Amino acid sequence: MQSQLETIYAQAAAELDSIASGEALDAWEAKYLGKKGVVIELVRSVGTLPKEERADFGKRANAIRDALMEAYQRRSESIKAQALAADLEGGAIDVTLPGRPRQMGGLHPSTHTLRRFYEIWAEMGFQVYRSRDVEDDDTNFTLLNMPPHHPARDMQDTFHTTTPNVILRTHTSPGQIRAMREFGGEGTQPIRIILPGMSYRFEQITARSEIQFHQVEGLAVGKHIRMSDLKGTIAEFAKRMFGQNAKMRYRASYFPFTEPSMEVDVECFLCGGTGCRICKYTGWLEIAGSGMVHPVVLRNGGYDPDVWSGFAFGMGPERMTLLRHAIPDIRYFWGNDLRFLEQF
Ligand code: DAH
Repeated sequence: MQSQLETIYAQAAAELDSIASGEALDAWEAKYLGKKGVVIELVRSVGTLPKEERADFGKRANAIRDALMEAYQRRSESIKAQALAADLEGGAIDVTLPGRPRQMGGLHPSTHTLRRFYEIWAEMGFQVYRSRDVEDDDTNFTLLNMPPHHPARDMQDTFHTTTPNVILRTHTSPGQIRAMREFGGEGTQPIRIILPGMSYRFEQITARSEIQFHQVEGLAVGKHIRMSDLKGTIAEFAKRMFGQNAKMRYRASYFPFTEPSMEVDVECFLCGGTGCRICKYTGWLEIAGSGMVHPVVLRNGGYDPDVWSGFAFGMGPERMTLLRHAIPDIRYFWGNDLRFLEQF
């Protein structure tokens, strides 16, 4: 047996040395190293030998297999190199031709906008805080000053799960409660964060409304935070986002979790305020809801409203992207149509 092994080794090595083509090499591999190759069968046959011969034979057979595999690799590379050299010499490969462009994926338009948000808010000292998509009713509504049957709940139709009180968040505001409960209470710390993420609403899907969309929530809590801080901060954001000449307007509004509340408009960047289809001929685009964090919400988050105050805001990056590029239909965002996505 042992001598048969050596004979086959010598024969295989000699054959390999004389091989010059890829086809011949493939055939050689199948013959010796393939699943039913001679060498592989030999390695396997170790079990049929008398016990005392097995160890030596097995060791040698494995060594020969490894040596042949290595030799095969080397041969294969040298044959490839020779073929390439021949092609180059014979002009079959024209190295002066331009390369073929590689197909590259791109970033989703919402990702572009979100990243711009992160950049600007980071420059302004806001850290990203991630909060969960699956919420409980309390955190999504009640602790934000919307107890059961509060009329404001009707504005945010909700996806319920089969587990009572477990819902998909209808906005990113519940993250305010989670963040405050992390940083508030004992050893209370000030907060300056944005909370980006997906929100979900059980609504009819139309050109203007989707059942899922991103929001970027903002929250600042400190000891002397005032409405003027909110206005200045949002104005600064808008300048960085829409340009230094961006004109702003604030409108009094109502949200259960802020008091006072306001909505923020920026002068329409498509028509420059003269009125167009996108701004519905008002000259203004709404970019955020905001306000001073309601004392009830501060307390629910573990902050004493007699000592602490804060502001919050919520923005919709899809809406902004839509306005910015005059995209007529919000359904494009999650439609996964490459003809749309490739434009960004
Ligand atoms: N959560 C609100 C919504 O989805 C948006 C919002 C408004 C967030 C005012 C805020 C805020 O933080 O202060 O409609």
